[in-house]
Amino acid sequence: MPFDGSKNKLSAFGLALSVFVFPSLAAAADGKALYEDKGCTACHGEDAKTPLEKGYPKLAGQNADYMLQQLKDVKSGARKNGQIVDTMKPVIDELKDDEMKALTSYLASLKWDSQGAPPAKTLPGKALYLTKTCIACHGKEGMKPLMKTYPFLAGQDKTYLLTQMKDIGSKARANGLADSMQPVMHLVNDKEKAQIAEYLSLVK
Ligand code: HEC
Ligand code: HEC
Repeated sequence: MPFDGSKNKLSAFGLALSVFVFPSLAAAADGKALYEDKGCTACHGEDAKTPLEKGYPKLAGQNADYMLQQLKDVKSGARKNGQIVDTMKPVIDELKDDEMKALTSYLASLKWDSQGAPPAKTLPGKALYLTKTCIACHGKEGMKPLMKTYPFLAGQDKTYLLTQMKDIGSKARANGLADSMQPVMHLVNDKEKAQIAEYLSLVK
């Protein structure tokens, strides 16, 4: 009977669900609790996309692999640019590896703030983004990172974007995969960096 067949398929599906989905749901739940318990909310916002101050990044929906590397690098001291040491490092120093994994997979499971719609007005930063190679690695409107170890940029905080571009260019930020981007940063001066940051921050 056809119903028997689908019933079997259903229970096989149920088994697959309990084996594969529930552990990751458990990790996601852990990550959410950790995100609150460790005080990440204070600086990055309850929803992880309402940063406390200019210069603080949005995290909701960011690539998990990218964020995990950043947290490890903050803890090891490999990433020490910008405001990291004065703000976040003491919190990250306390995290164990499995807590970092739970946190980053929870954060990555949230919806990224931007949908990738270009700003209504044509901004000079957009042309720069297209011609100065940024698009090759960060994708259309900063929404399609080439790899899971690369960050989303669309709709990110403007001040944060600018600081990071400057710091990667000057090698103040040289952790993770920053050295893949560093060689192109001479293509843009500080004014152009600010224009690109403005454009990217306005991608809706
Ligand atoms: C006291 C404020 C503060 C707290 C608490 C804090 N952060 Fe941060 N976080 C920052 C700031 C500021 C930056 C950016 C620093 C810079 O480069 O100038 C940052 C950067 C990050 C980044 C890198 C983002 C990117 O795009 O590279 C991640 C990931 C992150 N925080 C996750 C967390 C998690 C998870 C927690 C909780 C365990 C946390 N933060 C707690 C302030 C904070
Ligand atoms: C060859 C690939 C590549 C190119 C080209 C490139 N980037 Fe990147 N970019 C990266 C990688 C990889 C990272 C993450 C570095 C790390 O692991 O810490 C990054 C990080 C960033 C960040 C920091 C994001 C965050 O969340 O902290 C910004 C901002 C940025 N890129 C902007 C740009 C702009 C603007 C351009 C063009 C002028 C550009 N990138 C060109 C690969 C690239």
